[in-house]
Amino acid sequence: MEDNLKNLADIYYAKILSPSSGIGISWLRNTLAGLGIKDESIEKLYSINAPISREVWYYIFMKIWEEKKLADFLNILIDKVGSVDLGQIKDKLSSMGLIYRNGKFERKIFKIIVLVSGRGTNLQAIIDAIEKGKINGEIVGVISNKKKAYALQRAKNHGIETFYIPHKKDESREEYDKKLAKIIDEKRADLIVLAGFLRILSSWFVRKYKWKIINIHPALLPAFAGLYGENVHKAVLDYGCKVSGCTVHFVDEEVDHGPIIIQKCVEVLDDDTAESLAQRILEKEHESLVEAIKLISEGRIKIEGRRVKIS
Ligand code: GRF
Repeated sequence: MEDNLKNLADIYYAKILSPSSGIGISWLRNTLAGLGIKDESIEKLYSINAPISREVWYYIFMKIWEEKKLADFLNILIDKVGSVDLGQIKDKLSSMGLIYRNGKFERKIFKIIVLVSGRGTNLQAIIDAIEKGKINGEIVGVISNKKKAYALQRAKNHGIETFYIPHKKDESREEYDKKLAKIIDEKRADLIVLAGFLRILSSWFVRKYKWKIINIHPALLPAFAGLYGENVHKAVLDYGCKVSGCTVHFVDEEVDHGPIIIQKCVEVLDDDTAESLAQRILEKEHESLVEAIKLISEGRIKIEGRRVKIS
């Protein structure tokens, strides 16, 4: 369990211990039922009808947080025990996906737009991480420039809104990007993730969303920039590199160039083919992209020149 969540639970535990709080097992049962939270371990607890221990209280907080109902639960607690002094935890709320405003908690949703052109395994990694609660966020749209991109189907399978934006003849890059921007602004996206998006973005677009766009590249930048697909891995093998890997970076006006957030290495084996190397790197891509999005969504990234520092 995350320390911040534990600390928040501690603050309220002190309050519920007082008999005047009126908080006991039956209150808990009704409240969790009202929030639509069911859990076998909690059910067992009801039958024991013992006082709520600190461990049980932690477990309940974790469960409610996983169900994305923490803001609602905390507001119910405020009505019951009054507001509490949040102390230093106030600054950590956003990492728990919370905002505290005018005496009430709100759920902070980090909104992500993913741009794709192909099979969408990186998109899938983000979807899975969100569903497992690893990233406190929501994909508010997936945009593709290719109608048949399997990534669109993956999004639909998870109830995510999809947009197919084809490139029209005689349309400038900027005109195309304005169509992307319209969706991104309507959806109020906090972050734009290029997950295998095979189009170069205009300077207009990159400047409009400065440090709000990230890209995943299947090599260790600055080596092998500007290449994509199998060509990257072929070039790595032809050069005789002993290591390769992937890079997640912010997007600036040059291709595969912005400040680097995460890199992960993969050893190149003597019997590697472009395909086998691509496959091993892809696994690292999925991990890196999820880690980078998590860090950004938790506000833990600072860009200093070309260097990205993580707190
Ligand atoms: C990945 O290798 C990524 O690094 C590159 O395009 C590929 C997309 O793969 N930018 P997928 O569509 O996410 O499976």
